[in-house]
Amino acid sequence: MAKNVSPSALTDKDIFDLRYARSHGDLWTMLDRLYGAHPGYAAFQDALDQALRSAWEERPADLKRLDMQRDLEPDWFQRPEMNGYVFYIDRFAGDLQGVIDKLDYLKEMGITYVHFMPCLKPRPGDNDGGYSVMDYRAINPAFGTMADFEAATAACRALGMSVCLDMVVNHTAKEHAWAQKARAGDPAYRAYYLMFPDDTLPRQYEKTLVEIFPDNAPGSFTWYEDMAAWVWTTFNEHQWDLNWANPQVFLEMLRTMLYLANRGAEILRLDAVAFMWKRMGTRCQSEPEVHMLLQALRAACRIVCPAVIHLEEAIVSPEEMLPYLGRGEHDGKEGNLAYHNSLMVQVWSALAARDTTLMTHVMSSHFPPVLTNATYATYLRCHDDIGWAVTDEDAAAVGLNGFLHRRFLADFYEGVFPGSFAAGELFQHNPETGDKRNSGTLASLAGLERAQESGDPAHIGLAIDRILMGHALIAAYGGIPLIYMGDEIALLNAYDYRDHPPHAHDSRWLHRPKMDWARVEMARAAPDSVPGRVFHGLTSILARRSTTPELHAQNATEVLQTGNTALFAFARRAPTGSLVCVFNFTEAWQVIPASWMVGHGARQLHDVLSDAALGDRHGAIALPPYARIWSR
Ligand code: GLC
Repeated sequence: MAKNVSPSALTDKDIFDLRYARSHGDLWTMLDRLYGAHPGYAAFQDALDQALRSAWEERPADLKRLDMQRDLEPDWFQRPEMNGYVFYIDRFAGDLQGVIDKLDYLKEMGITYVHFMPCLKPRPGDNDGGYSVMDYRAINPAFGTMADFEAATAACRALGMSVCLDMVVNHTAKEHAWAQKARAGDPAYRAYYLMFPDDTLPRQYEKTLVEIFPDNAPGSFTWYEDMAAWVWTTFNEHQWDLNWANPQVFLEMLRTMLYLANRGAEILRLDAVAFMWKRMGTRCQSEPEVHMLLQALRAACRIVCPAVIHLEEAIVSPEEMLPYLGRGEHDGKEGNLAYHNSLMVQVWSALAARDTTLMTHVMSSHFPPVLTNATYATYLRCHDDIGWAVTDEDAAAVGLNGFLHRRFLADFYEGVFPGSFAAGELFQHNPETGDKRNSGTLASLAGLERAQESGDPAHIGLAIDRILMGHALIAAYGGIPLIYMGDEIALLNAYDYRDHPPHAHDSRWLHRPKMDWARVEMARAAPDSVPGRVFHGLTSILARRSTTPELHAQNATEVLQTGNTALFAFARRAPTGSLVCVFNFTEAWQVIPASWMVGHGARQLHDVLSDAALGDRHGAIALPPYARIWSR
């Protein structure tokens, strides 16, 4: 562009070129390292360049406008107005048109981010909740068409809501066109997957691999007689791992991502990213190349569709998770969001133990106070099981035995530990390693199901307070709090999954109930009913969050030592002052000296959540069971 061109004369091409210049290095340094030695690299470079240009040309004008807005407001997803809601299309509203009809409900709750759980065309039969995709360019016909999807994203945008869409990058369904061609013997497509003529290499790999679904899909490879080949299948047999070492896979998946971005998805949830690169002798999770791939995908989106951000799904230990938000050379250049699995696990662990020592240790020793161009997706429950990701080292640091603590948590949330308040089930018990995970809805795991069975109003009250305290915590910690469908009205476990053959083997369906709209009506009409208390409590937390500037994700989160093992506390450090947040993880009353709050920066001793004074500066602040305070 010549120097004397006035800005009003900027063409679409100029804008593309400027953005390409901005992210060129971030993209090509990674691709050179990943694929530079590949014989077809020059052709790959041309094809990729062309893919970026044509995706930009095809990008609709309203999305190009959003791109410009997001370039000007790059912190949009870090703001306190961001509140997320996650649902299955069919279980929430039947189909995409049904979703459009329900947007008012989400608006009423203050939702600005909506995750449409997998809605691309899945394989027939069991499809792992939609994570076994056979066509990335078609919508599940049961939900509607691609035009319906575009209408739904446009309707959301008009209401100030951003749509999150699952992009399954690690594997395709074995019915995907590429897999079908591979199966028919086409060598170009066989190279899209990881196939072996005999079990020599699979056996060697398996020495260090971790089984993901040991119960119903043991091992990581599947033998196909018709192809005379072992295929790498980390998850289920019908999910074939893609070979990302093949540049053609990168190209095809990038084209797909840009295509979906151009249909109006604003957050791409990149599924199971940890598994994208394989290396003999390792667990084949979170290898350095995974981060190179993810940086390159990120840079490509910054060029073509900067309105779009990436949520990287990696349910791994804290040290392994943080790099997905860009550490070291990838700082500020990788995922914009990643699930804060560790925070979720620690909330449940501290609730069961009535002790926050481990939580305070983990949260203060592993996580940086702020991240560049990134933040967390915080949550209490999602569609998946809870794996007890507490490392032996962290447990030992606070005098616990890691194995026994994990076992305690699994038993507690299965509801079999004596005195447990929870109702849940086991998921994927691995007798070889002793690993046990759990399923269950938020309300049932937090004690509501059992409390209602007992009919004791005090127990019901405690369960509701656990739910609300947990939400007050994830809404303040830093990042986008994600409300999982039905948790806002305290839906209980759905045991009828056992009667439905495609789901019966997978206890995660226990916490994937259908939305209960009659219960929503009850919550609205009767604020003192159980669903009413949860619904109004939660919407009020989200509303407070959106008007609390200290909660912007760019403000540091500093975990505080309270000296009281019942309490967990952190401060959010804003330029205008601090917000000190304290949570009581027990059903006993606690006190905290007002001087402690003041010493940590709470100037006014005013609780933002209840909009009430917390007492005088020299006294003690009383904290009822499961209290939550955000003190200015
Ligand atoms: C992710 C999804 C999970 C699915 C797996 C395989 O972890 O959250 O539901 O089973 O990927 O696609």
